[in-house]
Amino acid sequence: MADARILFDPINLNGFALKNRIVMAPMTRSFSPGHVPGEDVAAYYRRRAEGGVGLILSEGVSVNTTTATGTPNVPNIVTDEAKAGWKRVIDGVHAAGGKMGLQLWHEGAIRDPSKTEHPDIPSWSPSGFKMKGKPLWEPMSEAEIETAITEFVDAAVATKELGFDCAEIHGAHSYLIDGFFWAETNLRTDQWGGDWKGRTRFASEIIRRTREKVGPDFPLIIRLSQWKQQDYAAKVAASPEEMAQWLTPLVEAGVDIFHMSQRRFWEPSFDGSSLNDAGWAKKLTGKPSISVGSVGLSGEFTAAFGGESSEPESLDRLIEMMAREEFDLIAVGRALLQDPEWALKVREARTDDLKTFTKEALATLS
Ligand SMILES: Cc1cc2nc3c(=O)[nH]c(=O)nc-3n(C[C@H](O)[C@H](O)[C@H](O)COP(=O)(O)O)c2cc1C
Repeated sequence: MADARILFDPINLNGFALKNRIVMAPMTRSFSPGHVPGEDVAAYYRRRAEGGVGLILSEGVSVNTTTATGTPNVPNIVTDEAKAGWKRVIDGVHAAGGKMGLQLWHEGAIRDPSKTEHPDIPSWSPSGFKMKGKPLWEPMSEAEIETAITEFVDAAVATKELGFDCAEIHGAHSYLIDGFFWAETNLRTDQWGGDWKGRTRFASEIIRRTREKVGPDFPLIIRLSQWKQQDYAAKVAASPEEMAQWLTPLVEAGVDIFHMSQRRFWEPSFDGSSLNDAGWAKKLTGKPSISVGSVGLSGEFTAAFGGESSEPESLDRLIEMMAREEFDLIAVGRALLQDPEWALKVREARTDDLKTFTKEALATLS
């Protein structure tokens, strides 16, 4: 393996100082009964901090107790009990020398009301559907859009007040915010749809109003993805020019860091360049970026989330891309879910000790 030291160089992202470049990717674990993260959840995150991760991003955390959530046992950031649970989490991570942010999540059209505690409450989405041509609900009203924005802002303020080091707004993977970005799921003709300005307005308002409340120094990350749960080959932006139109309003609204979700970090975004999505986000906006996707996985798992199988890339490729400063941080999901000491082992070149990801790891909070 090439010299992995670059992954462990400290970095300062416009005042947000991190001890290394390794980020724990947000991963829903569904281990929070009553939507409250308990002691086992706190211990799970603390183990990753002890394992040398530079920045931990939490699993998706619901911004309300009704429309935002359709996945069982997902924690929220709304009730007093859940906030007390998160306080225990961040205190444990800090005690272990780590840094952490909450990922703020609204499931939008991906929520299936029939499988939730509130089956009579329809899901929220810009145009009322998950798949084009199959309307399921009414499009969000102006009042519902306003409520959703306020809920995201309140969740970010609570995140800061609890002592977290940053917040990540989940704007990826077909959930509510992403539903506004993607022209296939946003057919609105009012100010919340249409051109790039309209389709980015919902996210921009969340960022702008959050920024007003949390001040200039609290780092705000937004996670974005070209791919959709309904269509892995989808692209919100078909060219770098379109990606600039997508990201620039978010910068103007006050976002600090782009977290570009890809299933395989080494795949180029557009013809004619080897840059991936995080590479383009940094190049187009000048903002720091986080990449992700199949770091440290075997071939079997690089095919996860649909799509064709692909040979895994070694860490050498990642190290080369980091050395060229294409992006600043790398998020690691399943490898860290499996092995809390993944970062330590890579730093010490103990590659034989690395535990290989297996699906069985999903069943426990080890
Ligand atoms: C069990 C599991 C749960 C996930 N939950 C979330 C989530 O809550 N929010 C999110 O943005 N991505 C989520 N993801 C995607 C990961 O953050 C990450 O992008 C993906 O696993 C690819 O990284 P990896 O190949 O290193 O695992 C999840 C992935 C897994 C495996």
